[in-house]
Amino acid sequence: MHFFIILRRLFLGLVSSIEEVLTTVALYLVDFLCTLFNLVTPDRPVGKVVPAAPRVWREVARLQQINGYRGRHDHTTGLIPRDGKNIQFKELTTAIRKVYNFSPVFCYFLANNAAQLLVRDYRTDRLDLSDLDAHNLIEHDASLTRVDTYDDPVQGKIATALVEELLSSGTGPGGNLTANDISRLLGKRRIESKRRNPTYSLALFHKLFGSFKYGISPLSSNGF
Ligand SMILES: *[C@@H]1O[C@H](CO)[C@@H](O)[C@H](O)[C@H]1NC(C)=O
Repeated sequence: MHFFIILRRLFLGLVSSIEEVLTTVALYLVDFLCTLFNLVTPDRPVGKVVPAAPRVWREVARLQQINGYRGRHDHTTGLIPRDGKNIQFKELTTAIRKVYNFSPVFCYFLANNAAQLLVRDYRTDRLDLSDLDAHNLIEHDASLTRVDTYDDPVQGKIATALVEELLSSGTGPGGNLTANDISRLLGKRRIESKRRNPTYSLALFHKLFGSFKYGISPLSSNGF
């Protein structure tokens, strides 16, 4: 009996990983087609590129002024509930698109990726934004703007001292931050964290992610 349960799980696991791979391939394909489409169709005129977001924010501002607006399910603006809870993944896709005006494929990719990370079903399941805060899911040690989870498990909290150090470390024109500055600071944070945090961990994925999100090469940060 156990044998069949194991077989069934293996089978279901295999089917879902094949599905994930196919989804990713399909997404890249659609994205590629969209890119081709954009190459041959005329550009949108200046001022008409981002239609949705400003309208959405104006609407929120208007409602806030009228009634100290705190709508939970935000049908008016089509954004996510303000408490960040119980959000459908597909709702997240639409909201990201409205606010950031990313490509539809990328918006789906982000929300679908969140579903995969949390091992949930994109079509039927829901998430609280705080679920994404789990240690070593996206959040990782040695970040430039948060202390390590070891020092404070509440990772929504911005570490003012770190941010001030970051902002005063620019060596570019007018004290602007350069890619080299970010590399240097990341390296410094990683070495310091490793030294003082007994639970320090930074998997390859998080090293890459930690560098790429600033647009710098992971190899340029010492302490890699
Ligand atoms: C610093 O960066 C800002 C934002 O990109 C830019 O507007 C500003 O001109 C930069 N300062 C100098 C001195 O280059």
